[in-house]
Amino acid sequence: MSHPGHPTVAIAFHSGYGHTAVIAEAVARGAAGAGVEVVSISVDTITDEQWAQLDAADAIVFGAPTYMGTASAAFHAFAEASSKRWFSHSWVDKLAAGFTNSGAKNGDKSSTLGYFATMAAQHGMHWISLGLHPGWDSTTGSEDDINRLGFFLGAGAQSPTDAGPEAVHKSDIATAEHLGAPASHARPRSSAPGGPPSPPDPRTLSPLHPSPPRKEYVVSDSPSLALIRRLYESGMSPEVTAEVMAPDLVWDITPGFPNSGVYHGWDDAAKNFFGRTMPNYDSFGAVPEEFYADDEGHVFVFGHYHAETKTGNKADVRFIHLWTVRDGKAVSMRQAADSHILQEALKG
Ligand SMILES: Cc1cc2nc3c(=O)[nH]c(=O)nc-3n(C[C@H](O)[C@H](O)[C@H](O)COP(=O)(O)O)c2cc1C
Repeated sequence: MSHPGHPTVAIAFHSGYGHTAVIAEAVARGAAGAGVEVVSISVDTITDEQWAQLDAADAIVFGAPTYMGTASAAFHAFAEASSKRWFSHSWVDKLAAGFTNSGAKNGDKSSTLGYFATMAAQHGMHWISLGLHPGWDSTTGSEDDINRLGFFLGAGAQSPTDAGPEAVHKSDIATAEHLGAPASHARPRSSAPGGPPSPPDPRTLSPLHPSPPRKEYVVSDSPSLALIRRLYESGMSPEVTAEVMAPDLVWDITPGFPNSGVYHGWDDAAKNFFGRTMPNYDSFGAVPEEFYADDEGHVFVFGHYHAETKTGNKADVRFIHLWTVRDGKAVSMRQAADSHILQEALKG
C-alpha cells in the first residue's frame, strides 16, 4: 500500500530454490533501512492485489535467478503479463533496479540484469544502477568485499549449486542491501504537483549510503587506507560499519557544522549525529574523491558533501575526514568542512 508522502518500493522477484529469495530479502532490508514502505512479491504466485501494489509503488526492483543465461521462465511469464501495464503506461516514471543470482561466478548474469533494464526502459521507468565500485579487484581486495563480483548495472550474487540458500555469500547480501537503499529514494508520485516528478538523481544518496567516488583514488597499499576506502565503498553498510568501527570510536564533527560535537561510539554517532542531521535534507551524500594514508594508521579523505535541504536549497560542501586506524579498526574520525555553506543552505 502506498501512502501519500511516503514512498513505496516493491520487489518483484522469482526464486526457484530459495537462493534469490535471500537476495530479495536483503534488498528489502536495505530499502526499509532507508525508511520507506517495502512490499515483496513472488511473481510466480502474483495476485491481482499484488499487481495493484506494483501499480501503486514508486520504485520496482526486479529480481530473478539466472537460468540458461537469462531471467528464469517464471520471471519472463511475469514480464510478459506486465505488457498490460505497458499498454496503459502504468509504470512510466517509476524508478527501477535489478538483481540476479546464479551458480557460476559469472554465469552470464549480465544478460539478466540487461534484460531487467530493457524491460524497465520499455515501461518508461528510470533505471538505478548499483552505485558501487567493483570489489575484489586488487591484491588487497578479497571475496568479502562488497560488490565482489564487480557489477555496475545491478546487484549480482553467486550461490553454489550444491548448497542451500544458507550458503548465499555475505558480500552478495551486503551488496543487495546497498541496492535497496537508492531505490528508496523514490519520491511519491502521487504527491508531485503539476504532473509527473522529475526522477531523483540516483547518485545522490543518504549519508549512510554515500555515492561512489568520481575521481581516481590516490593509489596506496596501506591496509588502513584499504579499510577506510572499503567503508566508503560499502556505503557505510551495517555489516562493514560493524566490522570497521572500534567500540571506543571517537566521531568528531567540526564546530560550526550542523549538529557539531564529539560522539562516542558508532551507535552514538548514528543516533545523535546522523539521526538529527538527516531529517533536514531531502538528500545528503558524502562523496570521497581522494584518499591519502601514512604508515601510522592515519587516512585522509578529501571530498564533497552534496546536499539538498528540505526547502530545496542545494549545497556542495568541501570536507576532509581524518581517520585513525589501530589494530584494524577505526578509532577516530575527525571532520573539517566548509560549515558556512551548509548553514546558509539550511536558512531556507
Ligand atoms: C534451469 C536452470 C538453469 C540455470 N542456468 C544457469 C546459468 O545460465 N548460469 C549460471 O551461472 N547458473 C545457472 N543455474 C544455476 C542457478 O542460477 C543457481 O542455482 C541459483 O542459485 C538458483 O537460484 P534460486 O534458488 O533462487 O532458483 C541454472 C539453474 C537452473 C535450475
